Amino acid sequence: MPKHILKPAAKADLRQRQEQSSACRVALIGFGTVGRAVAKILSENAESSLRLTHICNRNVERKKQPWVPSDVIWTDDVEAVLKSDIDIVIELIGGLDPAGRIVRSALEAGKSVVTANKQLIARHGSDLLQLARSKGCQIEFGASVAGGVPVLPALRTGLCGDRLHGIAGILNGTCNYILSRIENARIPFSEALEEAQARGYAEADASEDLDGGDARAKLAILALAGLHARVAPESIRARTIRPLDAVDFDYAAELGCTIRQISRAVLKPAGPQPVHPKEDLKENALLAEVGPCLVPTDSPFGRVQRNLNLVVTSGQYGGDMAFLGAGAGGDPTAVAVVSDVMFVAQNLSAGAGKRDVASYVSTPVISGDFETPWYLRFFVRDQPGIVARLAQIMAAHHLNIDSLLQKPGFDKASLPFVITLEPCRDSLLHPALEDMAGLDFSIRPCLCLPILR
Ligand SMILES: NC(=O)c1ccc[n+]([C@@H]2O[C@H](COP(=O)([O-])OP(=O)(O)OC[C@H]3O[C@@H](n4cnc5c(N)ncnc54)[C@H](OP(=O)(O)O)[C@@H]3O)[C@@H](O)[C@H]2O)c1
Repeated sequence: MPKHILKPAAKADLRQRQEQSSACRVALIGFGTVGRAVAKILSENAESSLRLTHICNRNVERKKQPWVPSDVIWTDDVEAVLKSDIDIVIELIGGLDPAGRIVRSALEAGKSVVTANKQLIARHGSDLLQLARSKGCQIEFGASVAGGVPVLPALRTGLCGDRLHGIAGILNGTCNYILSRIENARIPFSEALEEAQARGYAEADASEDLDGGDARAKLAILALAGLHARVAPESIRARTIRPLDAVDFDYAAELGCTIRQISRAVLKPAGPQPVHPKEDLKENALLAEVGPCLVPTDSPFGRVQRNLNLVVTSGQYGGDMAFLGAGAGGDPTAVAVVSDVMFVAQNLSAGAGKRDVASYVSTPVISGDFETPWYLRFFVRDQPGIVARLAQIMAAHHLNIDSLLQKPGFDKASLPFVITLEPCRDSLLHPALEDMAGLDFSIRPCLCLPILR
């Protein structure tokens, strides 16, 4: 056999080495629930344009897995990973520190970054996009909102030709699990929470989920990516789902509705629309809020059950688009991460490192002053004149009552009933609620929920 003709096995080996040398070199930092699932996809599919080179985790020895290719370097030395010749860093540690420092160091060193870290992106996404641009590399965070639901990639590509003015979503699977369980089984809130905790859908301290902190961080990311609005998560008002009672689902059903935790943001230009999207949008206002709302039972939001996520975008040209799916879980989230890595790798090989998103970001005034119909639920000690007293307060604040609902069969010492109001701004309703808070027959604070039609 002539010397220059190789056997098939050697040929395959050579091809593999050639492919590996041109493949994008990927380091994974954080080998937990999502990191492990990402490593599995990258190891099993042997996608030739991507090559997993490092897995980095603290105390890494206990993490080693036999299914990871033998040439992958396991390490707990983040600095060494960042100094190596990798192209893309996948950050899956979570939290602000040290994840933030690692992401910044990677971008400073000209490495592109893929992350699923909502805390980091919600607080520093705009700056990190700017840093990536200045270094000619990329940062992608498609898994940071709605886990495996590809809404952020859709905003980046399929919807970037539209001019979006609103985004609304069910962004927290824990809340949705609890609310849909109360809806379907009419169990108390505390029982639904315990069940969610037992099934691993809620943490022991579920405050971030129940009180809206998790969802408003995700809403801030959606506002940045879809509405080009820089919003501090803390500036978005969040209302808790804790005061909800099974009876609220009975009254909501009377109105053709159910109750969901909804995150919504609507861009309201203060003056005439800018002619060009890159014009300064500083004068804009963003209405944004997270909290339980009444939604029609047969609406897309009303139909979302268990721990699924739904995001609906509203565009000037394309109208409404909906994205539904698994908002969490190792495998679905890993798919979103690997998809981002493939997107970055394709851009790197095409020599297109930069993204344009950060170049026209507004800093709008944030307000929760939505105008909607309202659901007010009272728990009272029954006595004559209650409705007259409430109606008097509403009239004094120029609020119009739409309906009054009272189901029979409740204890007179703790009687729930509901008043619905015609549409009005939150700022108009709020002083009336303060006046109602002092009423002697009221035994619980009035529960006040927007009705989204
Ligand atoms: N899980 C989901 O369903 C989901 C969905 C969407 C987005 N995300 C996001 O994905 C990211 C990862 O989540 P996860 O659920 O995979 O978290 P996780 O299971 O807690 O994994 C985090 C991993 O990072 C390691 N780690 C923590 N601090 C480190 C440090 N200083 N240096 C090196 N390694 C460190 C942890 O090691 P130890 O084993 O020593 O703790 C662990 O292996 C988070 O940003 C999360 O918000 C998760």
